[in-house]
Amino acid sequence: MFGRTLRNLRCDMMEKVNQILSEFQLKKEELKEIMKRMQQEIERGLRVETHEEASVKMLPTYVCSTPEGSEVGDFLALDLGGTNIRVMLVIVGEDEESKWRVETKNQMYSIPEDAMTGTAEMLFDYVAECMSDFLDKHHIKHKKLPLGFTFSFPVRHEDIDKGILINWTKGFKASGAEGNNIVGLLRDAIKRRGDFEMDVVAMVNDTVATMISCYYEDRSCEVGMIVGTGCNACFMEEMRTVELVEGEEGHMCVNTEWGAFGDNGELEDFRLEYDRVVDETSINPGHQLYEKLISGKYMGELVRLVLLKLVNEDLLFNGEASELLKTRGSFETRYVSQVESDTGDRKQIYNILSSLGVLPSEMDCDIVRLVCESVSTRAAHMCGAGLAGVINRMRARRSLEALKITVGVDGSVYKLHPCFSDRFHKIVWDLTPHCEITFIQSEEGSGRGAALISAVACKMASCMK
Ligand code: GLC
Repeated sequence: MFGRTLRNLRCDMMEKVNQILSEFQLKKEELKEIMKRMQQEIERGLRVETHEEASVKMLPTYVCSTPEGSEVGDFLALDLGGTNIRVMLVIVGEDEESKWRVETKNQMYSIPEDAMTGTAEMLFDYVAECMSDFLDKHHIKHKKLPLGFTFSFPVRHEDIDKGILINWTKGFKASGAEGNNIVGLLRDAIKRRGDFEMDVVAMVNDTVATMISCYYEDRSCEVGMIVGTGCNACFMEEMRTVELVEGEEGHMCVNTEWGAFGDNGELEDFRLEYDRVVDETSINPGHQLYEKLISGKYMGELVRLVLLKLVNEDLLFNGEASELLKTRGSFETRYVSQVESDTGDRKQIYNILSSLGVLPSEMDCDIVRLVCESVSTRAAHMCGAGLAGVINRMRARRSLEALKITVGVDGSVYKLHPCFSDRFHKIVWDLTPHCEITFIQSEEGSGRGAALISAVACKMASCMK
């Protein structure tokens, strides 16, 4: 008798939990609606008359339908845009079958909080310091190498090696950078040090670098996407629709900056109470609303807020949360991956929760897993709807019966979460009939891509001489 009551109580609780989590499920019709709205914003971003007010900025990158041939030799690649700065030495060459062969040496440097949120000078001085250290370590300080710079923020380009930062995203806030030429800031910092010289030949977004690095393996790669700290995509667009740049012939890669989708209210009917809290407590409230539903910078925090909601409803941890769990940012995004990687014995989940100061029952562990699954599945589906929008639009614009295309992808969420990529691929395929989409993971794409495009830029510069 008692056992049955307990079981009933559990069923009751699970029902309530499932009801709360059901808000994260998106029906196919809803995903199609999101896809449609994304396509509308893409159009608005491309058009001169609507560009200013569009949330999806569709920024021209000056990376054009790749001309064959490039310089060979040593290039330096610098990557700034996530939690680390990465410096790389890339040796670009051709092998016997005249295929690209790219060798790399690289080093990561973590970015101190004060460099991220101090002044632009402080940030770029730190970047130059990392480069100097790297050159020392590899005994190449005397060489003036060409540099490819991957800068993963929204940049309004004037050329491939010149562009102003529109606004910071992903927790960066260094003052005096927005509205300024980023390559100029980097050159100034290198000059201030005075212990090495560098020839900055190209600046690209990480999505663009990813697409380029994958293009060298698969010539059908015309889309690049990142799902990491941030979330964004780029793709090759016909020149004549890129109204912000003159010229009609060929294609130019456009950085969508789709992370800002929703900033004009396009996602209001999909955003939940947790999304609103994440946004309100972020460094850039009201901005990057689509990214905040998806990317690694926010995923763990979303999970934490849902857990607190369940605690408040008396459905988890006996209605009591630890101080740590009540602290913003304590549930890291990597825990979401770890929870969902648990093999079924709940050990991993138990360990994470105890490190957060709670002693969970088996049922608590199962609920936490359900929360992680709900949040990360919604992220995969939301992101999938965006990409399906991009690809369906490409097929329609090219008036193709069927489109065969490859997408180069990078980013910690995509690569490290155990199920994100599968769920994401499935939904994209489902939403893109008449398209044959292949996904390839880029290996060190940010650096390699920047170096490869620099090699092309060098070749073009020397041709024009
Ligand atoms: C943010 C940035 C964007 C970048 C993305 C992935 O959305 O604004 O430029 O590509 O993060 O790093």
